[in-house]
Amino acid sequence: MPFSLTTPIYYVNSDPHLGHAYTTVAADALARHHRQRGEDVFFLTGTDEHGAKVAQAAAAAGMSPKEFCDRVSARFRDLVHRLDASNDFFIRTTDREHEKRVQEFMVRLRDAGHLYEDTYAGLYCTGCEQFYSEDELEQPGNICPLHKTPVERLEEENTFFRLSAFQEPLLELYDRDREYVMPRARYNEARSFIESGLSDFSVSRATVSWGVPLPWKPEQTIYVWVDALLNYRTALEYGLGRDVSATFWPSMHLLGKDILRLHCVSWPALLMAAGYEPPRRLFVHGYLTSGDQKMSKSLGNVIDPLAVIDELGADALRFYLLREVQWGQDGSVTRDGLDRRYAGELANDLGNLVSRATAMIVRYRGGVVPEGRCELEPVDAAVRERFEAFDLTGALDVIWGLVRAANRYVEERQPWVLARSQAAADQSLLDTTLYTLADAVRSLAVLLHPFIPASADRMLEAVGDPGAVAWERAGVGHLPPGTEVSQPPPLFPRA
Ligand code: MSP
Repeated sequence: MPFSLTTPIYYVNSDPHLGHAYTTVAADALARHHRQRGEDVFFLTGTDEHGAKVAQAAAAAGMSPKEFCDRVSARFRDLVHRLDASNDFFIRTTDREHEKRVQEFMVRLRDAGHLYEDTYAGLYCTGCEQFYSEDELEQPGNICPLHKTPVERLEEENTFFRLSAFQEPLLELYDRDREYVMPRARYNEARSFIESGLSDFSVSRATVSWGVPLPWKPEQTIYVWVDALLNYRTALEYGLGRDVSATFWPSMHLLGKDILRLHCVSWPALLMAAGYEPPRRLFVHGYLTSGDQKMSKSLGNVIDPLAVIDELGADALRFYLLREVQWGQDGSVTRDGLDRRYAGELANDLGNLVSRATAMIVRYRGGVVPEGRCELEPVDAAVRERFEAFDLTGALDVIWGLVRAANRYVEERQPWVLARSQAAADQSLLDTTLYTLADAVRSLAVLLHPFIPASADRMLEAVGDPGAVAWERAGVGHLPPGTEVSQPPPLFPRA
């Protein structure tokens, strides 16, 4: 089964921050999970590089837009790499191959009769690259609710997309699949927006020069959001050096709630208008906040993901983000919180379990897994169910239940006491206990692979089952007796 998944493409007007890392990490966990289930996965991320906002940022940095984009896009690419994300392609909207296809898409829309010319007058926020109606803005002064800066009045001759004609097709799409947008509250939000009536929107800009020229009127550029949304399809056509869109389209999109309307309303309509299938599904997640504010560069309350990775490793950051904040909801993240989870859950609960289990097998059984059967209950079915509901936090929660059960089991069995006994029954109980612990570590590594891939690899190496992350092995009882085990250096060293 093919599974195709995307993150939003990130604006290069500012440097990457934790919010960007968040969507990437969540998408990576899903991509890795589907791969371990044997599915053919295409996981896409990248950068959104056109538009007035980027041109302004370039000018402020004293650089040409392209030079500026090259520099900042490389930082996003580096973050993706440092997060240990397993993306199959990194798209840039300044790729020639992308730009060409954006122009072709516009021609398709025009030829299908979905575009027309008109004058546009409206209130525009350059920060959002979006027009607002007065009642959406903060009064007095027409202030953008997100950027807290005044919007500008713009008037120009534009090409318009007939979004208003897509109310019925969109509602049908939403009726066919009650989980078209997840979670349910976001589905309702998008659906009621569609029901309230849709206005046509302008898909060209006379005033923005940093963009893809409109093919039949090259003095105008294509609206940056149309250009950006199209990345999800164009990447499939050229990213791997061959066109894989027949296999992988439609994709599932992950996005933050800030860009719900464009993704859940405009984008499926644009696709239907051009004769393409709409996205398979959209998952809208919440904001990471710092206290009760959105975390964003302009508000200056950002945790630097790269600094955390340098200090504690990518797995620590990945784990914290997906564990701390219920996936789909808003949630506050802090450096203190991260340090607490690192010490309490990664170093203590998981790190100690791995280190005790392997050390005892080395000490009491010469590093060889004894005969036995796993006495702990498997959790793979429950974890799989959580993944199927896209509940990443819930999946981790179930997995942590097994980590805790394994730690309780060690305390109850007290293998160090059994080891001192000469009684055959005690020795056989010790065998079973040690087998159970080694196999639990192995099962946990398979379950945790989507979340903390590097640590999961080290766990599997330690229990002599390197690389065995396939989902068929996520249950218990798969570790053959006789396997050689070694004690690894601490997985999560304390600073
Ligand atoms: N370029 C557009 C998206 C185009 S997609 C066709 C854009 N870029 S962005 O750089 O602003 O990134 C937006 C995405 O980054 C959000 O939708 C979300 O996925 C992620 N986040 C950015 N800040 C965030 C938080 N504070 N919290 C959680 N995620 C956030 O919009």
